[in-house]
Amino acid sequence: MSKSSHLADRIQNLQPSAIRELLKHSKMPGVISLAGGIPSSELFDKEGLAEATKIVVDQNFNDAFQYGLTEGNVELRQQLVGLCQERGMTTTPDQMLITSGSQQALDLLIRALANPGDVFVVERPTYLATLQILSLTEATVQSVGGDEHGMIVDELEALLKTTRIKGVYLVPTFGNPSGTTLSAERREKLVKLAIEHDFVIIEDDPYGAISFTDNREKTLFQVAAELGNHENVVYTSTFSKILAPGLRVGWILMPEWMKQKVAIIKQATDLHANSFSQSLVSAYLSLNRLNPQIALIRDAYKQKCLSLSKYLQDELGDHISFNQPQGGMFLWAKFRYDFDTTKWLERTLAKGVVYVPGEFFFSDNADKKTLRFSYATASDEQLFEAVQRLKSAL
Ligand SMILES: Cc1ncc(COP(=O)(O)O)c(C=O)c1O
Repeated sequence: MSKSSHLADRIQNLQPSAIRELLKHSKMPGVISLAGGIPSSELFDKEGLAEATKIVVDQNFNDAFQYGLTEGNVELRQQLVGLCQERGMTTTPDQMLITSGSQQALDLLIRALANPGDVFVVERPTYLATLQILSLTEATVQSVGGDEHGMIVDELEALLKTTRIKGVYLVPTFGNPSGTTLSAERREKLVKLAIEHDFVIIEDDPYGAISFTDNREKTLFQVAAELGNHENVVYTSTFSKILAPGLRVGWILMPEWMKQKVAIIKQATDLHANSFSQSLVSAYLSLNRLNPQIALIRDAYKQKCLSLSKYLQDELGDHISFNQPQGGMFLWAKFRYDFDTTKWLERTLAKGVVYVPGEFFFSDNADKKTLRFSYATASDEQLFEAVQRLKSAL
């Protein structure tokens, strides 16, 4: 018998990331990647991070290199109360848990909530790594469709007529991969459904701050609070896309009934998030550089997004359609006719350009005509060249 039979059943069922396989050639010299979900390191605030590092070493040395509280650095949590307030959410340091990025937040939350077989609903398409976490907990995943206004909440309502739902996971603002934003009307309806049917909404918000316009939808957390509900929405966000992902600092806002248990899972996982990173983020926030930094990122991504949209429209408009993103890092496109974007990748790779085929973002009913472009890291010239290469690969 193979030794791998020692692995737990749920681990044996885990599939390697098909995207990783497909994209392992994307680092070859000359290949332009529109595939990665990473922010532009050219925009990292080197001066601010250096200054914050100096503050930490000179003024906060012990805390930064010592074990810390599972819930997270006290000062950082106090600062985050202010940051959440700017996003329209009233909270307290007690309601908060600092995590190792929002990826860990999702893992802790789903592990805290899911029994094997519990039904979790995601959007079609959705964030791939959440599907992996759900598969590890052996939850049952059901999906509802999405359109240019985000998750189709009416479909969820229909599903609720036949199915007991434990949780709904979504990226309601500038979603990954869809780039779409859930409309105000759907936000309210979704939260009301959560209250009526008593399921938990996991609101994943890494991109909300990167808005290309002055319009800002209320977070689901805020919508619930305005309806007097503080029980059914869990919010998570991160410094990964607005400061630097290598820091691995994110946070969760949780209802009272979850808080203690999630903290215990966190403790069992890694005791607490990296002390140095937390002190560094706290020192950075004290410099009041975050908002100017976000403005810089927003302007740069907006420009890149407009460029990519224009080139795609001009060169491939007869072949693909897409919604114009209003923020975030992703442009989600779809062929106008039957097409397999996974197969196409081999051809575009030969021409020196990669993207992520859409099918990997679906838990079921994959739409092979779809594909995700990230415009965050490429320069304007590269975006132009990438679209020319895509065209030549058709
Ligand atoms: C939708 C979504 N959620 C969570 C994450 C994880 O981010 P973090 O770096 O905070 O763990 C990402 C990262 O790409 C993401 O796109």
